[in-house]
Amino acid sequence: MTQIFSLAGKVALVTGAGQGAGAGIAALFARQGAAIIVNDVVGERAEAQAQAIRDAGGKAVAQAFDVTDLEAVRRGIAAGESALGGPVDILVNNAGNGGAEGPLRMLPFADLPPEAWQATLAVNIYGAMNCLHVVLKPMVTRGWGRIITIASTAGTQGINGGMAHYGAGKGGSIALTRHIALENARFGITANSVALGLIRQDDSELFNKLARSLPVGRRGTPEDVAALCLYIASEEAGWFTGQTVELNGGAFTT
Ligand SMILES: NC(=O)c1ccc[n+]([C@@H]2O[C@H](COP(=O)([O-])OP(=O)(O)OC[C@H]3O[C@@H](n4cnc5c(N)ncnc54)[C@H](O)[C@@H]3O)[C@@H](O)[C@H]2O)c1
Repeated sequence: MTQIFSLAGKVALVTGAGQGAGAGIAALFARQGAAIIVNDVVGERAEAQAQAIRDAGGKAVAQAFDVTDLEAVRRGIAAGESALGGPVDILVNNAGNGGAEGPLRMLPFADLPPEAWQATLAVNIYGAMNCLHVVLKPMVTRGWGRIITIASTAGTQGINGGMAHYGAGKGGSIALTRHIALENARFGITANSVALGLIRQDDSELFNKLARSLPVGRRGTPEDVAALCLYIASEEAGWFTGQTVELNGGAFTT
Protein backbone atom coordinates (compact mmCIF):
# COMPACT_ATOMS: atom_id res chain seq x y z
CA MET A 1 0.00 0.00 0.00
CA THR A 2 1.32 3.48 -0.87
CA GLN A 3 2.00 5.63 2.17
CA ILE A 4 -0.27 8.70 2.30
CA PHE A 5 1.54 12.07 2.29
CA SER A 6 4.80 10.47 1.23
CA LEU A 7 7.49 12.92 0.11
CA ALA A 8 9.77 10.18 -1.22
CA GLY A 9 11.93 11.38 -4.10
CA LYS A 10 11.30 15.07 -3.37
CA VAL A 11 13.88 17.71 -2.44
CA ALA A 12 12.70 20.33 0.04
CA LEU A 13 14.34 23.62 0.97
CA VAL A 14 13.29 24.84 4.41
CA THR A 15 14.65 28.28 5.27
CA GLY A 16 15.40 29.25 8.85
CA ALA A 17 15.30 25.55 9.71
CA GLY A 18 17.99 25.59 12.37
CA GLN A 19 15.42 25.80 15.17
CA GLY A 20 11.73 26.29 15.94
CA ALA A 21 9.00 25.64 13.39
CA GLY A 22 11.46 25.29 10.49
CA ALA A 23 13.39 22.57 12.30
CA GLY A 24 10.13 20.71 12.98
CA ILE A 25 9.08 20.97 9.32
CA ALA A 26 12.48 19.76 8.09
CA ALA A 27 12.44 16.79 10.49
CA LEU A 28 8.94 15.64 9.53
CA PHE A 29 9.50 16.10 5.78
CA ALA A 30 12.67 14.00 6.10
CA ARG A 31 10.78 11.27 7.97
CA GLN A 32 8.29 11.24 5.07
CA GLY A 33 11.13 10.60 2.64
CA ALA A 34 12.17 14.05 1.34
CA ALA A 35 15.81 15.06 1.06
CA ILE A 36 16.21 18.38 2.87
CA ILE A 37 18.29 21.49 2.31
CA VAL A 38 18.42 22.80 5.87
CA ASN A 39 19.02 26.53 5.64
CA ASP A 40 19.75 28.97 8.41
CA VAL A 41 21.71 32.20 8.57
CA VAL A 42 23.35 30.74 11.71
CA GLY A 43 25.57 28.01 10.27
CA GLU A 44 25.90 25.91 13.45
CA ARG A 45 22.13 25.68 13.79
CA ALA A 46 21.73 24.47 10.21
CA GLU A 47 24.56 21.93 10.67
CA ALA A 48 23.11 20.60 13.93
CA GLN A 49 19.62 20.16 12.46
CA ALA A 50 20.92 18.49 9.28
CA GLN A 51 23.01 16.14 11.44
CA ALA A 52 19.97 15.33 13.63
CA ILE A 53 18.01 14.38 10.48
CA ARG A 54 20.86 12.19 9.22
CA ASP A 55 21.19 10.58 12.68
CA ALA A 56 17.49 9.68 12.46
CA GLY A 57 18.10 7.97 9.10
CA GLY A 58 17.01 10.86 6.84
CA LYS A 59 18.75 12.70 4.04
CA ALA A 60 19.78 16.31 4.66
CA VAL A 61 22.46 18.85 3.90
CA ALA A 62 23.06 22.13 5.73
CA GLN A 63 23.34 25.34 3.72
CA ALA A 64 24.07 28.48 5.71
CA PHE A 65 22.97 31.62 3.91
CA ASP A 66 21.05 34.79 4.55
CA VAL A 67 17.79 34.68 2.56
CA THR A 68 17.92 38.45 2.06
CA ASP A 69 21.10 38.11 -0.05
CA LEU A 70 20.10 36.95 -3.55
CA GLU A 71 23.60 35.87 -4.60
CA ALA A 72 24.03 33.86 -1.40
CA VAL A 73 20.61 32.28 -1.99
CA ARG A 74 21.61 31.29 -5.54
CA ARG A 75 24.89 29.75 -4.36
CA GLY A 76 23.34 27.99 -1.37
CA ILE A 77 20.51 26.44 -3.36
CA ALA A 78 22.86 25.31 -6.15
CA ALA A 79 25.21 23.70 -3.62
CA GLY A 80 22.32 22.03 -1.78
CA GLU A 81 20.80 20.69 -4.99
CA SER A 82 24.11 19.29 -6.18
CA ALA A 83 24.72 17.62 -2.77
CA LEU A 84 21.26 16.02 -2.78
CA GLY A 85 21.22 15.20 -6.49
CA GLY A 86 18.08 17.03 -7.58
CA PRO A 87 16.28 20.37 -7.86
CA VAL A 88 14.08 21.87 -5.16
CA ASP A 89 10.51 20.53 -5.44
CA ILE A 90 9.20 22.02 -2.18
CA LEU A 91 10.07 25.47 -0.86
CA VAL A 92 9.14 26.41 2.69
CA ASN A 93 9.72 30.12 3.24
CA ASN A 94 9.98 29.92 7.02
CA ALA A 95 12.89 32.23 7.84
CA GLY A 96 11.48 35.25 9.55
CA ASN A 97 12.05 37.48 12.46
CA GLY A 98 9.39 38.33 14.94
CA GLY A 99 9.78 42.06 14.55
CA ALA A 100 11.94 44.32 16.67
CA GLU A 101 13.68 42.77 19.69
CA GLY A 102 15.26 44.13 22.86
CA PRO A 103 14.31 47.66 23.86
CA LEU A 104 12.48 48.16 20.55
CA ARG A 105 10.20 45.19 21.10
CA MET A 106 6.47 45.90 20.90
CA LEU A 107 6.92 49.63 20.32
CA PRO A 108 4.11 51.33 18.40
CA PHE A 109 5.10 52.13 14.81
CA ALA A 110 5.29 55.86 15.61
CA ASP A 111 8.24 55.17 17.94
CA LEU A 112 10.08 52.65 15.75
CA PRO A 113 13.34 53.60 13.97
CA PRO A 114 13.60 52.68 10.26
CA GLU A 115 16.40 50.11 10.87
CA ALA A 116 13.91 47.97 12.77
CA TRP A 117 11.29 47.82 10.07
CA GLN A 118 13.74 47.58 7.17
CA ALA A 119 15.26 44.37 8.59
CA THR A 120 11.84 42.86 9.24
CA LEU A 121 10.54 43.60 5.76
CA ALA A 122 13.78 42.35 4.19
CA VAL A 123 13.62 38.87 5.69
CA ASN A 124 9.89 38.35 5.39
CA ILE A 125 9.41 39.75 1.87
CA TYR A 126 12.73 39.84 0.02
CA GLY A 127 13.79 36.57 1.66
CA ALA A 128 10.75 34.81 0.22
CA MET A 129 11.11 36.55 -3.16
CA ASN A 130 14.78 35.62 -3.48
CA CYS A 131 14.12 31.92 -2.86
CA LEU A 132 11.13 31.95 -5.23
CA HIS A 133 13.19 33.69 -7.90
CA VAL A 134 15.68 30.82 -7.86
CA VAL A 135 13.38 27.78 -7.59
CA LEU A 136 10.16 28.77 -9.38
CA LYS A 137 11.18 28.61 -13.05
CA PRO A 138 12.69 25.12 -12.76
CA MET A 139 9.45 24.00 -11.04
CA VAL A 140 7.43 25.37 -13.96
CA THR A 141 9.65 23.51 -16.40
CA ARG A 142 9.21 20.24 -14.49
CA GLY A 143 5.47 20.80 -13.95
CA TRP A 144 5.45 20.22 -10.20
CA GLY A 145 6.11 22.33 -7.12
CA ARG A 146 4.95 23.23 -3.63
CA ILE A 147 5.44 26.66 -2.07
CA ILE A 148 4.63 27.20 1.60
CA THR A 149 4.92 30.60 3.25
CA ILE A 150 5.06 30.64 7.03
CA ALA A 151 3.23 33.83 7.94
CA SER A 152 1.51 35.07 11.06
CA THR A 153 -1.75 36.23 12.54
CA ALA A 154 -0.06 39.64 12.46
CA GLY A 155 -0.27 39.46 8.66
CA THR A 156 -4.00 38.73 8.57
CA GLN A 157 -5.31 40.74 11.55
CA GLY A 158 -4.66 44.10 13.14
CA ILE A 159 -2.98 43.70 16.54
CA ASN A 160 -2.56 46.50 19.05
CA GLY A 161 0.89 45.43 20.23
CA GLY A 162 3.79 46.94 18.32
CA MET A 163 3.56 44.59 15.36
CA ALA A 164 2.71 46.95 12.49
CA HIS A 165 6.01 46.45 10.65
CA TYR A 166 6.01 42.71 11.24
CA GLY A 167 2.39 42.52 10.11
CA ALA A 168 3.29 44.45 6.95
CA GLY A 169 6.05 41.94 6.21
CA LYS A 170 3.87 38.91 6.83
CA GLY A 171 0.87 40.41 5.05
CA GLY A 172 3.11 41.15 2.07
CA SER A 173 4.39 37.58 2.01
CA ILE A 174 0.79 36.31 2.06
CA ALA A 175 -0.14 38.54 -0.89
CA LEU A 176 2.98 37.43 -2.77
CA THR A 177 2.04 33.79 -2.21
CA ARG A 178 -1.51 34.29 -3.50
CA HIS A 179 -0.25 35.80 -6.73
CA ILE A 180 2.35 33.05 -7.16
CA ALA A 181 -0.45 30.51 -6.66
CA LEU A 182 -2.58 31.89 -9.47
CA GLU A 183 0.26 32.54 -11.89
CA ASN A 184 1.45 28.96 -11.55
CA ALA A 185 -1.70 26.93 -10.92
CA ARG A 186 -1.64 25.46 -14.44
CA PHE A 187 1.92 24.20 -13.98
CA GLY A 188 1.32 21.71 -11.18
CA ILE A 189 2.54 24.20 -8.59
CA THR A 190 0.61 25.12 -5.47
CA ALA A 191 1.35 28.05 -3.17
CA ASN A 192 -0.21 28.57 0.24
CA SER A 193 0.43 30.47 3.46
CA VAL A 194 0.18 29.27 7.04
CA ALA A 195 -0.63 32.14 9.40
CA LEU A 196 0.69 31.06 12.78
CA GLY A 197 -0.58 32.16 16.13
CA LEU A 198 1.53 31.84 19.25
CA ILE A 199 4.28 29.23 18.98
CA ARG A 200 7.03 31.29 20.61
CA GLN A 201 8.68 29.20 23.33
CA ASP A 202 9.17 32.20 25.60
CA ASP A 203 8.80 31.43 29.28
CA SER A 204 7.92 34.97 30.36
CA GLU A 205 4.72 35.53 32.32
CA LEU A 206 3.27 37.54 29.42
CA PHE A 207 3.63 34.65 26.95
CA ASN A 208 2.61 31.98 29.47
CA LYS A 209 -0.57 33.93 30.20
CA LEU A 210 -1.23 34.38 26.49
CA ALA A 211 -0.80 30.63 25.90
CA ARG A 212 -3.18 29.73 28.73
CA SER A 213 -5.78 32.12 27.35
CA LEU A 214 -5.97 30.29 24.02
CA PRO A 215 -9.02 28.04 23.54
CA VAL A 216 -6.75 24.95 23.39
CA GLY A 217 -4.91 26.19 26.49
CA ARG A 218 -1.38 25.95 25.11
CA ARG A 219 0.93 27.47 22.51
CA GLY A 220 1.64 25.65 19.26
CA THR A 221 4.67 23.42 18.71
CA PRO A 222 6.95 22.86 15.72
CA GLU A 223 5.19 19.51 15.31
CA ASP A 224 1.77 21.21 15.06
CA VAL A 225 3.13 23.41 12.27
CA ALA A 226 4.93 20.57 10.52
CA ALA A 227 1.83 18.35 10.36
CA LEU A 228 -0.16 20.97 8.43
CA CYS A 229 2.79 21.76 6.17
CA LEU A 230 3.16 18.07 5.33
CA TYR A 231 -0.37 17.97 3.95
CA ILE A 232 0.19 21.14 1.93
CA ALA A 233 3.47 19.79 0.53
CA SER A 234 2.02 16.42 -0.43
CA GLU A 235 1.00 15.06 -3.81
CA GLU A 236 -2.51 14.65 -2.36
CA ALA A 237 -2.88 18.44 -1.88
CA GLY A 238 -2.73 19.28 -5.59
CA TRP A 239 -6.13 21.03 -5.51
CA PHE A 240 -5.25 23.12 -2.46
CA THR A 241 -3.78 26.42 -3.59
CA GLY A 242 -3.92 30.17 -3.05
CA GLN A 243 -5.06 29.76 0.55
CA THR A 244 -4.05 31.22 3.88
CA VAL A 245 -4.63 28.79 6.73
CA GLU A 246 -4.92 30.15 10.27
CA LEU A 247 -3.11 27.79 12.66
CA ASN A 248 -3.66 29.40 16.03
CA GLY A 249 -5.05 27.08 18.70
CA GLY A 250 -8.51 28.50 18.15
CA ALA A 251 -7.46 32.10 18.96
CA PHE A 252 -10.12 33.14 16.45
CA THR A 253 -12.11 31.30 13.83
CA THR A 254 -12.73 32.13 10.19
N1 LIG B 1 7.21 32.32 17.24
C1 LIG B 1 5.92 32.64 17.04
O1 LIG B 1 5.09 32.65 17.97
C2 LIG B 1 5.47 32.95 15.65
C3 LIG B 1 4.16 33.39 15.46
C4 LIG B 1 3.72 33.66 14.18
C5 LIG B 1 4.58 33.48 13.11
N2 LIG B 1 5.86 33.07 13.31
C6 LIG B 1 6.72 32.89 12.13
O2 LIG B 1 7.04 31.52 12.02
C7 LIG B 1 8.35 31.35 11.47
C8 LIG B 1 9.17 30.50 12.42
O3 LIG B 1 9.14 31.07 13.69
P1 LIG B 1 9.99 30.47 14.90
O4 LIG B 1 9.48 31.08 16.16
O5 LIG B 1 10.09 29.01 14.77
O6 LIG B 1 11.40 31.17 14.55
P2 LIG B 1 12.77 31.16 15.34
O7 LIG B 1 13.12 32.58 15.58
O8 LIG B 1 12.78 30.20 16.48
O9 LIG B 1 13.74 30.57 14.21
C9 LIG B 1 13.90 31.21 12.99
C10 LIG B 1 15.21 30.79 12.37
O10 LIG B 1 15.36 31.55 11.17
C11 LIG B 1 16.69 31.96 11.07
N3 LIG B 1 16.76 33.17 10.26
C12 LIG B 1 16.41 34.43 10.64
N4 LIG B 1 16.68 35.29 9.67
C13 LIG B 1 17.21 34.56 8.63
C14 LIG B 1 17.70 34.91 7.36
N5 LIG B 1 17.71 36.19 6.94
N6 LIG B 1 18.15 33.92 6.55
C15 LIG B 1 18.15 32.63 6.97
N7 LIG B 1 17.73 32.26 8.19
C16 LIG B 1 17.26 33.22 9.01
C17 LIG B 1 17.14 32.19 12.50
O11 LIG B 1 18.55 32.11 12.63
C18 LIG B 1 16.42 31.09 13.25
O12 LIG B 1 17.20 29.92 13.41
C19 LIG B 1 8.90 32.75 11.27
O13 LIG B 1 8.68 33.15 9.95
C20 LIG B 1 8.08 33.60 12.23
O14 LIG B 1 8.00 34.94 11.82
C21 LIG B 1 6.32 32.79 14.55
